[in-house]
Amino acid sequence: MLDKDIEKILITREQIQMRCAELGKQLTEEYQDKTPLVVGVLKGAVPFMADIVREMDCYLEIDFLDVSSYGNATVSSGEVKIVKDLDTNVEGRDLLIVEDIIDSGRTLAYLVDLFKYRKAKSVKIVTLLDKPEGRVVPIEADYVGFDVPNEFVVGYGLDYIQQYRNLPYVGVLKPSVYQS
Ligand code: PRP
Ligand code: MN
Ligand code: MG
Repeated sequence: MLDKDIEKILITREQIQMRCAELGKQLTEEYQDKTPLVVGVLKGAVPFMADIVREMDCYLEIDFLDVSSYGNATVSSGEVKIVKDLDTNVEGRDLLIVEDIIDSGRTLAYLVDLFKYRKAKSVKIVTLLDKPEGRVVPIEADYVGFDVPNEFVVGYGLDYIQQYRNLPYVGVLKPSVYQS
């Protein structure tokens, strides 16, 4: 039913599944002798988070936080604030931040700074998607699933006005959806 709103599929569910398995193997090695705190950034990261932790064969804990970014017409830097914080004290912990996409980089730059300030032992990033052309703040993920072009993508956690997060693939919406 949702398929009718999609112009083209960029990344299929099979491709996502295979890439999660590959990334999971690398992360399993990275964290074999650690017990990382895996931090999901609500809400977009939820499907990827669920899949990636199940590909990690090591001891780990999970937690979530929610941030909101609001553009202010008079301030070009953009602002990020915490809407729901972690329940866990990160001091001395190895953190793995899980994101669905890095676009401007503002969300992750803010979180990395925050966790360093809170004295995390290490902070790494895994993102399903990277949109390098969107970057405003210089930040790179340690693990990237796929690069995507500078188009508005939805699915597998990514929303258009809070919908389409439940699509099992990543795609581009038909223009008619925006115009209605
Ligand atoms: C989206 C996405 C990333 C962030 C990336 O989240 O899920 O968290 O934006 O953009 P940036 O690199 O420009 O900061 P959003 O704030 O839309 O919240 P959501 O996850 O609840 O959709
Ligand atoms: Mn998000
Ligand atoms: Mg969003």
